[in-house]
Amino acid sequence: MSNNIIVAIDGYSSCGKSTLAKALAKKLHFIYVDSGAMYRAVALYFLRNNVDMADHAQIEQALKNIHLNFHSRDYESHILLNEEEVSEEIRQMPVSEKVSAVSALKEVRREMVKQQQRMGKSKNIVMDGRDIGTAVFPDAPVKLFMTADPKVRAERRFKEIHPKNPDITLEEVFENLAHRDYADTTRSESPLVRAEDAIILDNTNLTPEQQLQFALDKVEPLM
Ligand code: DC
Repeated sequence: MSNNIIVAIDGYSSCGKSTLAKALAKKLHFIYVDSGAMYRAVALYFLRNNVDMADHAQIEQALKNIHLNFHSRDYESHILLNEEEVSEEIRQMPVSEKVSAVSALKEVRREMVKQQQRMGKSKNIVMDGRDIGTAVFPDAPVKLFMTADPKVRAERRFKEIHPKNPDITLEEVFENLAHRDYADTTRSESPLVRAEDAIILDNTNLTPEQQLQFALDKVEPLM
């Protein structure tokens, strides 16, 4: 297949990107790629191997030793780091705290973008992240840029993580999101910005079904 369809979904943290991307991929039988999981798996490798982030040679060597693969068993993100399933571990706090710094390294971004572009060569895919419509697939025929009211995002995230972290407060979650927004939008390598031709999807007041329909209305005419 040469004229495959790529749907690029970018936006802030905890905006519902992956929920929409998975639902869309499932509905259309596209492949779903969670690009954030790739940065998280690299961060996990860096943590486990004490990679010195100030040492370019160490970073390059680490990237040569990292082999990432996705399971395409279902539409959940199952990522393998050197054949080991790490989907759970990459969501834990140590990785969440490390990943912003790791994803800001230009060597890391260059390698991830190369691998992501390879995945989009011949298959219909939905990929979500921060730079998919700008750096990874600037020619993607459908680009969505998701936003939502920061308070609503914090409340959604709080509901998700509070059962496992009963000590966490809504204020902490709000602060953490604000911090990540700042880091994502101000880093020098591929900062989070809306591609000029991306359609804004503000989902503050939209149900998951309404968001899916919005996306389907953009993609289905191309099929
Ligand atoms: O979407 P997420 O929270 O799992 O992403 C994890 C981190 O990776 C987050 O700090 C942003 C970064 N990221 C990125 O820089 N570029 C992407 N395409 C995807 C994620």
